[in-house]
Amino acid sequence: MSAFYITTPIYYVNDEPHAGHGYSTIVADTLARYHRLKGNEVFFLTGVDEHGAKIHKAAEKAGLTPQDYCDKIAPTFIKFWKRLNISHDIFMRTTSDMHKRGAQKFLNALYTSGDVYKGTYEGYYCLHCERFIPEKELTAEKICPIHKLPLEWLEEDNYFFKLSKYQDRLLAHFREHPDFVYPAARRNELLSVLESGLEDISISRSSVSWGISLPFDPEHIVYVWIEALMNYMTALGYETDSEQYRTFWPADIHMMGKDITRFHALIWPAMLMAVDLPLPKQIIAHGFLTKDGEALSKTRGIFVDLEADIAKYGLDAFRYYLLREFSFGNDGDYRPARLHARYTADLANDLGNLLNRVLGLVNKNFEGIPAPTTPGEFDDEITAMAQTTVTTVEEHIKAFAFDAALETIWEFVRRINRYVQQTQVWTLARSPETKPRMGTILYNSLEALRFISVLISPFVPDTAEKIQKQIGLAEFDTVAVWGRLPVGLTVSRGEPIFPRVDVKKQKQPQRKETAPPKQKKTKETSRLISFADFQKLDLQVARILSAEPIEGADRLLKLQVDLGTEKRQLVAGIAEHYKPEALVGKQVIVVANLEPATIRGVESHGMILAGSGDAVVLATLDTEMPLGTQVR
Ligand code: MSP
Repeated sequence: MSAFYITTPIYYVNDEPHAGHGYSTIVADTLARYHRLKGNEVFFLTGVDEHGAKIHKAAEKAGLTPQDYCDKIAPTFIKFWKRLNISHDIFMRTTSDMHKRGAQKFLNALYTSGDVYKGTYEGYYCLHCERFIPEKELTAEKICPIHKLPLEWLEEDNYFFKLSKYQDRLLAHFREHPDFVYPAARRNELLSVLESGLEDISISRSSVSWGISLPFDPEHIVYVWIEALMNYMTALGYETDSEQYRTFWPADIHMMGKDITRFHALIWPAMLMAVDLPLPKQIIAHGFLTKDGEALSKTRGIFVDLEADIAKYGLDAFRYYLLREFSFGNDGDYRPARLHARYTADLANDLGNLLNRVLGLVNKNFEGIPAPTTPGEFDDEITAMAQTTVTTVEEHIKAFAFDAALETIWEFVRRINRYVQQTQVWTLARSPETKPRMGTILYNSLEALRFISVLISPFVPDTAEKIQKQIGLAEFDTVAVWGRLPVGLTVSRGEPIFPRVDVKKQKQPQRKETAPPKQKKTKETSRLISFADFQKLDLQVARILSAEPIEGADRLLKLQVDLGTEKRQLVAGIAEHYKPEALVGKQVIVVANLEPATIRGVESHGMILAGSGDAVVLATLDTEMPLGTQVR
């Protein structure tokens, strides 16, 4: 068992948390849970950053003292983490005594190192970033490159840290530890900052009153970023050199958004070098969760209504969607329709139906889980795939490829669905000769589902537990070794773990558990798709809001359509058959879960159905229906 320490950024309490903070913390939570699953001793930190001018201003605006304001906002983060099922071991607050004392100890050590000196600073400051914007990044309008809000001119006496002195040591560290910063794009960005030369940084503010004072000059308040970074150590008991501190420092992973890597990968390590302490092992940066391509920001009114989506689909669907759909390290646009499509296809259909079906068959035909007495076709392939799935998932998680990890698990889920189908297990109940084989197939399917539940548990912990409960396991079994599932367990009736969600609450046709009609094997059969395949299509009623030609593409039109829950842009090859103005207001049928594509430089998020022969005629419903209605 080894110690594993992972942190999220500590979030500013100037406002309540939003989905972007949620994303950072869900990713870290997944890794924390994964390491616990591996049997490691995990310490998972999240928390809040409570000092500095930004918080002070927010408090003033709310008519509260800064401390009262922090005491009001901090619990909203705690509540949020509970809502997102975050398994942190500590919720760190920088207004805690433990932090204040630890930070002062660190500041004294920094001062004693001889790398701190007094000087004057002047420059443009972004209150939202809580940092001076370097000359190189300044625009003529003097606007923050991230927040797009006006900068403030500041001039004051400060203490400085000799960051420039550590340039060569930092460069050497980057070169000797290629994994220090991930992904490569961020590493390269930082390397080029390093190569272009580091300037000393100011570490105190004389104009700020809300914060921790410098132990060697109490007139000055430590710059909030410098103090915030120290929380990763003070939280462990750095001040008293506690057992916990000695077990977990240095951190294995500092997880964060791509906006704050410089603080973590350049300034923080240099500070640690100055006081002669070990550096964190990895700085891992994810992309931004965006809405319509823009970073979420309450200040700018760009947000994701995650409460509504969690209420509709459940928390695990939300977690699954973020981890499955976004490629880690890149920005990802939040789209409720994609969440719906993932829910329906991956969760309700592939996984939920499989569990339900297998449990239903066990219940109907056996007293408890049957023994695997009769090996047969496909069994070896299934058991081998179970093991390779475990290994591949592990590799993907180590590479922070959460989407690939989930896709690997789902390949296995789909394989088991096919296994059930190929063996036509439901037909084997008819005779006493075939029943033992039926029992074996059902045992294998349940054991596969147990494996799946173990593998998905870091991502969607509640679902993993529900699956094992329905299988009849009293305690969550985390061991991915084939054959551990006890025979004879009483399985539950199998409530759907992902009940069907219809945007407009329509009834869906129920599938019956019957053998498919016997078919002659002709060429025709290879053209057939299963009902499950058909159900993967997310067809929805939409209305065309606008249509316009695309320059240089005679056959294409750019359309904006309304799906009821969201608006989309898509490209349709109908320009030769429809005039743009004749399309506006028409109801059409859209394939809503088609992978986005860029067609002639225009993004297309879906496809419109049309009859296409010599003429092209848009498919539509007999009478109008509410937008977003599923078409089946
Ligand atoms: N207080 C500092 C961090 C100090 S850590 C020693 C801070 N706080 S913050 O509230 O602004 O949160 C920043 C972090 O929140 C980002 O680095 C990122 O992890 C997360 N996110 C904020 N908006 C986000 C998105 N839109 N998308 C994804 N993550 C986002 O900076």
